[in-house]
Amino acid sequence: MTDVSGKAGHSLWGGRFAAKPAELMRRINASIDIDKRMAAEDLAGSRAHAAMLADVGVIGREDEQAIQKGLNAIEAEIAAGAFPFREALEDIHMNVEARLTELIGPAAGRLHTARSRNDQVALDFRLWVREACDRSASQIRDLQRALLRQAEACADDLMPGFTHLQPAQPVTFGHHLMAYVEMFGRDASRFDDARTRMNECPLGAAALAGTSFPIDREQTARALGFDRPTANSLDSVSARDFALEAMAAGAICATHLSRLAEEIVIWMTPAFGFISLSDAFTTGSSIMPQKRNPDAAELIRAKVGRILGSLVNLTVVMKGLPLAYGKDMQEDKPPTFEAFDALELSLLAMTGMIDDLTPGRAAMAAAAGGGFSTATDLADWLVRRLGLPFREAHHITGRAVARAEALGGGLADLPLEDLQALEPRIEADIYDVLTPAASVASRVSQGGTAPVQVRRQIARWKEILA
Ligand code: ARG
Repeated sequence: MTDVSGKAGHSLWGGRFAAKPAELMRRINASIDIDKRMAAEDLAGSRAHAAMLADVGVIGREDEQAIQKGLNAIEAEIAAGAFPFREALEDIHMNVEARLTELIGPAAGRLHTARSRNDQVALDFRLWVREACDRSASQIRDLQRALLRQAEACADDLMPGFTHLQPAQPVTFGHHLMAYVEMFGRDASRFDDARTRMNECPLGAAALAGTSFPIDREQTARALGFDRPTANSLDSVSARDFALEAMAAGAICATHLSRLAEEIVIWMTPAFGFISLSDAFTTGSSIMPQKRNPDAAELIRAKVGRILGSLVNLTVVMKGLPLAYGKDMQEDKPPTFEAFDALELSLLAMTGMIDDLTPGRAAMAAAAGGGFSTATDLADWLVRRLGLPFREAHHITGRAVARAEALGGGLADLPLEDLQALEPRIEADIYDVLTPAASVASRVSQGGTAPVQVRRQIARWKEILA
């Protein structure tokens, strides 16, 4: 067995070195603690590469079979927690290759023919990010399904709709939740788009310039589920925009999650009482016995900091890097892993909370009529029935609101004489449009809050998510 970190430097690249790296050099150089998360991707890449090398006759079939057996043994060791990860071997690629050498001997040395760690890491990382995109899209769709279930149960339930967080017009809780189904639908499709763009295989670019061996890049690309090989070897080892794009999709999704999280926090405060969460998704206070805090929602609201921060992190790492590979790029993994870990946890916890929440139907319905929320309906009545220009109707309604406020009631409580003092042609049927239920039912325009429209949105998404 070769001494993998022996006197003459490093066995995998130490041919020209006479001494070992300094302890600090070893520490700053090693990435194994991070990139061991790409072990499965590294093994998959090596399997495809070895099979292709044998198929084109660059290595013998027996050597290939020994390599495949060794890779299987390594996979089993990793699964059993028995694989000896060694910092002295820097990264996952050299840990696997060194272990392969220990297990099968010199045949292991043929695996790295026509390959470099530069295209190897580009491949492994791309595979990891591709998988993360798929996982995120699928977790987002689970969240959409949870929202859809609540929306369907609450398609008729009145709540105040806000602008500027001031009561604006009544809507239904189902309609409000369906707005998030739309947002998360775009988020999932952003991950799908990113996946399509990144799905080209960089393996075969070797260090940067390609290789003189007669490799078959179409074969390895196909074996690893890519649409095609990448077109330019320099780009293949230098590109990390696939990770940036995936993280950008993640940051936008996290932003949407933070908005929903903030609404949950607001809705849950007793002053609103629009929803309640069970013991499963709340915590208590160590000093105030009455407390029930929405910690999960608050943490989701905060996680966007980590996720967007990771995107900024990697963008700054990549900015100004000359082609082709630079060791700077080893710093691509920590922020990317961190971003997707945070996103995954946020998506799962949000889905759990949405499933867990109970709507406070009475409090929402009571609030739906507050704040003169049917003032627009009054103005619309004046336009429809009396043919007034909307601006004039708006002015009259504003005066009606002022009058109602002075009397200490809502618009529906205004005596008919008071309304007629503002516009003599107003008749008693105006009261029909002043309830929140009538207001909501009247908003039948496509995408509007009328329950019939909300049910159409729900039916459409049910089909998409089936
Ligand atoms: N650990 C390295 C990374 O993550 C692998 C590639 C190293 N290549 C090299 N020529 N040093 O980027």
